[in-house]
Amino acid sequence: MKPDRKVIGELIVGYRKAKILFTAASMNLFSLTRNAAAAGAISRALRTEPRATGIFLDSLAAMGFLKKKNGFYRNMPLARRFLVPGKKEYLGHNLQYQDIIWNAWSELGSVIKSGVPPVALGKLLSGRSKFLGEYIKGMGEIARKPAEEIASALELSGAADMLDVGGGPGSYSIAFLERNPNPGARAVIMDLKGTLKVTRKIIAAHRLHDRITLKPGNYHTSAFGKDRYDLVLFSHVTHDEGPEDNLRLLKKAFAALRKGGQVVIHDFMLNGNKTAPLFSALFSVHMLVYTKNGRVYSSEEYSSWLKKAGFRGIKERHICSQTENPSRILVAVKP
Ligand SMILES: C[S@@+](CC[C@H](N)C(=O)[O-])C[C@H]1O[C@@H](n2cnc3c(N)ncnc32)[C@H](O)[C@@H]1O
Repeated sequence: MKPDRKVIGELIVGYRKAKILFTAASMNLFSLTRNAAAAGAISRALRTEPRATGIFLDSLAAMGFLKKKNGFYRNMPLARRFLVPGKKEYLGHNLQYQDIIWNAWSELGSVIKSGVPPVALGKLLSGRSKFLGEYIKGMGEIARKPAEEIASALELSGAADMLDVGGGPGSYSIAFLERNPNPGARAVIMDLKGTLKVTRKIIAAHRLHDRITLKPGNYHTSAFGKDRYDLVLFSHVTHDEGPEDNLRLLKKAFAALRKGGQVVIHDFMLNGNKTAPLFSALFSVHMLVYTKNGRVYSSEEYSSWLKKAGFRGIKERHICSQTENPSRILVAVKP
């Protein structure tokens, strides 16, 4: 890269832009600016201080989320499409989750010194804060595309019984069942009790919900069963855990699969020397600031654990490779 000071200048405004957007999403601002609204009316609706609100709204207009005309603010297409609750492509829950995690990022220096996050994921998930709902719904928002792509890439015809470990919003179970040519195929989502309360609400409206069983459990301590599934999925689960736990989880998946069954690991992954893709390297820091042992792994690391667990025929595939957050799957078979 050419040494250009613009690169640093852009990073300085980058965090400002991000925080302004996260705050707007957390305040649900864009539902107030569906139609043109004056700053005064917006600040009354949000119960915010008028001068501060005006400065904030102007910055959102400068960034292209709002249009300002004669003192009135209205959503621009970007906000209309992705930031208004109820829209098919809504990303607001994910942004609100990012806003909550912001505090953990503020502690990055001390996390690097101590290696310990200020608050770990387990605590966030079991707490009474807003975190759990935004986290799980936010996962659902970013899962739409990869879930469809993975479901169409996999051979699902033999997958009558599937276990979705840490399935969260259930996006992958739904996509896999939709693509499965077997109308009797079923999925079990194993997740923490608190998470499943959110999952139940998300999938209730879906026509396939009666083919999905929600199984409360802790994937570290709860049994997966023996020889009972054709497919076990870990999507965005292994990056929350350390290497030993991941190997243990893969061994449990191996025992739970029938002969010929497949395990699928879906996650952000790094290349061998862990410096690319950029999104994955940054996501690894994201895991560092709020999980005890999590990080992003390379596909080589996953392959070695899969082999140690007994799996064979490992295949790798890039997912959403043209998007801003590319991921990969590793698929392997229990011989
Ligand atoms: C990053 S989310 C991934 C959700 C989903 N698999 C996806 O890809 O959209 C991680 C999920 O693991 C669940 N989880 C975390 N720790 C767990 C544990 N010890 N036992 C079971 N589930 C756990 C969380 O509740 C959450 O649903």
